[in-house]
Amino acid sequence: MAFPPAFLDELTARNPIEDVVGQYVNLKRSGSNLFGLCPFHGEKTPSFSVAPDKGIYYCFGCHKGGNVINFEMEIEGLSYPDAVRALAKRAGMEVPEDEQYQSRYHQQERLWALHKEAARFYHSQLYAPVGANALQYAAGRGMPKSILTKFGIGYAPDSWTALVDWLRTKGYTDQELRDSGLVTVSRKNGNLFDRFRDRLMFPIIDVRGNVIGFGGRIMNNQDKSAAKYLNSPETLIFNKRKNLFALNLAKKSKLGYMILVEGYMDAIALHQFGFDCAVASLGTALTEDGANLLARYTEQVVLIYDGDEAGQNATKRAIPILEKAGLQVKVLQMRDAKDPDEYLKKFGADRFKLLLEESSNRVEYQLNAILKKYDLRDDDQKVKYLQESAELISTLVSSVQREVYGNRVAEKAGIAEDAMKQEISRAYRRRTYQEKKKQEKIDLSPVRNLQPIDKKLRYDNMKSARAEEMVLSQILKEPALFEEIPELKPEMFSSEFMGRAFSQLLGRYRQGLEVSLSGLTDFTPEEMACLAGITQRLTGPVNHEGLSDCSRTIREEYQKSQTKTLEDIMLYREKMQKSKGTKP
Ligand code: GTP
Ligand code: MN
Repeated sequence: MAFPPAFLDELTARNPIEDVVGQYVNLKRSGSNLFGLCPFHGEKTPSFSVAPDKGIYYCFGCHKGGNVINFEMEIEGLSYPDAVRALAKRAGMEVPEDEQYQSRYHQQERLWALHKEAARFYHSQLYAPVGANALQYAAGRGMPKSILTKFGIGYAPDSWTALVDWLRTKGYTDQELRDSGLVTVSRKNGNLFDRFRDRLMFPIIDVRGNVIGFGGRIMNNQDKSAAKYLNSPETLIFNKRKNLFALNLAKKSKLGYMILVEGYMDAIALHQFGFDCAVASLGTALTEDGANLLARYTEQVVLIYDGDEAGQNATKRAIPILEKAGLQVKVLQMRDAKDPDEYLKKFGADRFKLLLEESSNRVEYQLNAILKKYDLRDDDQKVKYLQESAELISTLVSSVQREVYGNRVAEKAGIAEDAMKQEISRAYRRRTYQEKKKQEKIDLSPVRNLQPIDKKLRYDNMKSARAEEMVLSQILKEPALFEEIPELKPEMFSSEFMGRAFSQLLGRYRQGLEVSLSGLTDFTPEEMACLAGITQRLTGPVNHEGLSDCSRTIREEYQKSQTKTLEDIMLYREKMQKSKGTKP
């Protein structure tokens, strides 16, 4: 849908980009820009820039960028209209909604309300006569009433329509019930019945406090025919990959780190025993979205997955995902119990705390994992152990760390510290040599280097594209320059999206509106990022002569493309066919 341009301009004016970004990133001024650590990729030195005068942000490291709406979309994981809505709310503005969006938002709000109603219903059933078994089960698993209340744990009765009936009396339509994912539709007669039956219910609550789904556990471990846990399906309001269980509580923790576990019950037990910083992924492996979400609330995470092989494999997969999100990772190796829930209930909080203090950083953890693979009594295996460990240690940035871990490995294998040191240096040189080679290759192909990151936006005509970039960056600096290049038309641009940007900016200029990237609409995030990159990279002063040169280049290249001879076209076709044929 199109929001009115005047509304979007006011929205942008009332949400200064430095304020909005400043809510997430610690910004420091440097010239006309502000800099901070990029919230979209892990980094130690700031390459994330905000240009208040241009109304844009751009990361020189990961090349994300755009206007304030793009930022809101990216950081909160929102769609374009939802980001606009959130910014409007922030600035206390009324959103001119069209009917379609109004109805979608309305639908969302109804689903949140429906879920809250369902959570209340399930919770009340826990204390009703039908819930006696469930209450006993909860007590048997060591959950006090305070925890049942805190997490809103409930019981879905062993009935086909208990929830359906209840929600109907509350005025929810059959369509809304179907959309909620809490009911199933009978294939035979289209009747609705409860999806969750005779299960202990765990409400899943997002960081804003909305109930968005449920996980339900069977209470009879003997029943092998039913899945132990059943989760809500994906709905308009529930996305498993983008939410974490208990984050609504953990985000308020004062402990200064987060604990990531596999199961609902593990997270709950941790909270119960005072570790109020625990979260769990939602019945799926940890995703990049999940890690980024976590990284918004903490810098350090302790990974505690089950002690079994599946848990170890999951740990291995989760470490790089968490590190990529900029998190410092520690790993707690579960022992003497299968998971944190069992451990806490067996040994209590104090002993768990000792375990937690012992939890190693990921290097120790990974070195241990390597150690486990080899039998050090065998010389061949010992050599492999040393090489693999050296490889890992050589990736550490800190020389102190390299020394400490290197000595530790040397001791384990019973070799001299010096020998290990040499092995690490060798591994280090080998890798940096390879990386340097790779970098040289990139540096030596300037054309590729200057291309937009997103493949769809790759420039076909590099010469013209360079000039187009220059024109855009100059116009954005000084809109009056439009007067100096009246002969330049959007359709002459070789790059489709840059032509579109030129056209929209020109339109705004003619209407007397502000000429900036924050006023652009209908550009994809990738296109916006490219445009933001252009204005942040090309920061030279206004250059009248250069501008008319660029304009001429664009026109000439355009002319050339228009006067392609028949021969050219044939050649081009042949080439396309060939490249199609060789591609898999
Ligand atoms: P308890 O047995 O109640 O202590 O749970 P747990 O957390 O120890 O369970 P487990 O380690 O087996 O599983 C961890 C998580 O994986 C659970 O919290 C669920 O989110 C998910 N999970 C486990 N079993 C199933 C299943 O059968 N179906 C689905 N969809 N998810 C499951
Ligand atoms: Mn368990």
